[in-house]
Amino acid sequence: MNLPKSVSIVEVGPRDGLQNEAHFVPTDQKIELIHRLSETGLKRIEITSFVHPKAIPQLQDSEEIIKRVKRKPGIVYSTLVPNEKGLERALSAGVEEIALFVSASEIHNQRNVRMPIEDSLKGFRNIAVQALAHGIRMRGYVVTAFGCPYEGKITPEKVEFIIKEYKALGVHEIALGDTTGMANPLMVSRLIERIKPQMGETGLALHFHDTRGTALANVLAALQQGVTVFDGAIGGLGGCPYAQGASGNVATEDLVNMFEEMGVETGVDLSKLIECARYAGEIIGKGLPSHLLHSGKVRWEGMKPD
Ligand code: COA
Ligand code: ZN
Repeated sequence: MNLPKSVSIVEVGPRDGLQNEAHFVPTDQKIELIHRLSETGLKRIEITSFVHPKAIPQLQDSEEIIKRVKRKPGIVYSTLVPNEKGLERALSAGVEEIALFVSASEIHNQRNVRMPIEDSLKGFRNIAVQALAHGIRMRGYVVTAFGCPYEGKITPEKVEFIIKEYKALGVHEIALGDTTGMANPLMVSRLIERIKPQMGETGLALHFHDTRGTALANVLAALQQGVTVFDGAIGGLGGCPYAQGASGNVATEDLVNMFEEMGVETGVDLSKLIECARYAGEIIGKGLPSHLLHSGKVRWEGMKPD
């Protein structure tokens, strides 16, 4: 197996994970979760979202989150931004990285952000000019890149079209999102192989939801295609409120366990991550789908318990 020496993990639990929780998590607890995640060795954390507070009531405290999270040097804290109003809020709150998002599926984009894909992209052009002028990095999500719960199959041409647009905007990285867990390893491998030549200097990240249990297999397929940036949500929190039946991202601790057991470095302390997953479960008040949270770390002969 051809494996890279190391990978980067992007923690999206505080945003993608929490956004689907109906019960409001107090701001203090969200901040505590972000602070604990910051102590695990993770280098990138998506902490909140400047979307409409009525669309995602859970993240209505985004200004306060940005203001109160203590920045640990070496960690990039990023924020989701859907439109120019979102950027305006992000700029006045003070952010270092934003994540734009548009669906490859016309119907999903309409349901998610109430506008056609073309309007999302038009807004991004104005956002990009301002963000880059302020020295803010941009990540671009391609939502429903592997299939849409409304439209079904998403052709690779649709994904390629959005990649082209994002590259023209100057994003540093594009994240392909399997929003409702429709991808399988073969599909992942084929899509990456196809888009690779188009990526050039732009980074490629993969964002899998584990709706049908294929997320880790998909990660492995992407890894073998040379991808080294993967999103995870602590405890496997989450889902997309505008995609029926969506469930959480692959749990960050499950990702880290798989990589580390294969000798692929993540720089993340798995025991601390499991503690964070336990805390995430406490603050949302329910069980989480994480495997490692229930099984604990692999114990090889001679290993001492923590
Ligand atoms: N933050 C706060 N308020 C916003 C906003 C934002 N990012 N964008 C627009 N608004 C306000 C406008 O100022 C306007 O206010 P007014 O009525 O007081 O003038 C009002 O909302 C309507 O503006 P409009 O541009 O028509 O927005 P919309 O109602 O069509 O909603 C989105 C568009 C994108 C803001 C909304 O659909 C949204 O936030 N979706 C996010 C969904 C999401 O997060 N999904 C999960 C991530 S994959
Ligand atoms: Zn997601």
